[in-house]
Amino acid sequence: MPDNLILKSALIAALFMTMSAPALSREATVAPAPNGIAIPKDYKTWQPLGVSHRTDKDSLRIILANPIATKAATEGKTNPWPDGSMLAKLAWKDSTHPNFAAATVPGELTHVEFMIRDSKKFADTNGWGYARWLGMEQKPYGNDAGFAQECSTCHLQAKETGYVFTRKAPLP
Ligand code: HEC
Repeated sequence: MPDNLILKSALIAALFMTMSAPALSREATVAPAPNGIAIPKDYKTWQPLGVSHRTDKDSLRIILANPIATKAATEGKTNPWPDGSMLAKLAWKDSTHPNFAAATVPGELTHVEFMIRDSKKFADTNGWGYARWLGMEQKPYGNDAGFAQECSTCHLQAKETGYVFTRKAPLP
């Protein structure tokens, strides 16, 4: 094989690897949720959509959105949210800033959880696939695939905003 052909083959192979990367971009070391959903590998790079503080759980949360969901939220095209949208919620126990008692800051990580939009695949739960992992050890939540009904039932309260509670935090 001439050198330039070898180079071309290598480039094509590299291109294919890049193209298939999204499908493979799930963390291999974290066990999947009981409904088969794998943890999205790149969620820590997603954009913040909002934050919340739950007084009933003494817990701080950040809600992150992948690029598809961020675009939909920015354009206000969220009912329904487009397929491919992914939202994450990262929750920590309230803690007090060591140098400033009035500041509530993230303490122990309690869970990370996800909503993954696929209107066909997840039709039983209103088009959203639900999954949660507990603590720093990222233990999958739920005894069997039925756990997602619990998520989807409570999220019915946000039906008019596409089953998503979080509103984009105001920014100029
Ligand atoms: C009792 C009600 C309730 C249940 C059950 C519930 N959620 Fe939520 N969820 C909420 C509320 C309220 C919010 C809004 C922000 C917050 O909690 O801080 C939310 C937010 C989220 C978000 C961020 C997007 C949004 O809708 O704002 C994700 C992702 C999420 N939940 C996933 C799950 C998963 C996965 C489960 C099941 C394992 C689940 N939820 C179960 C009430 C619930």
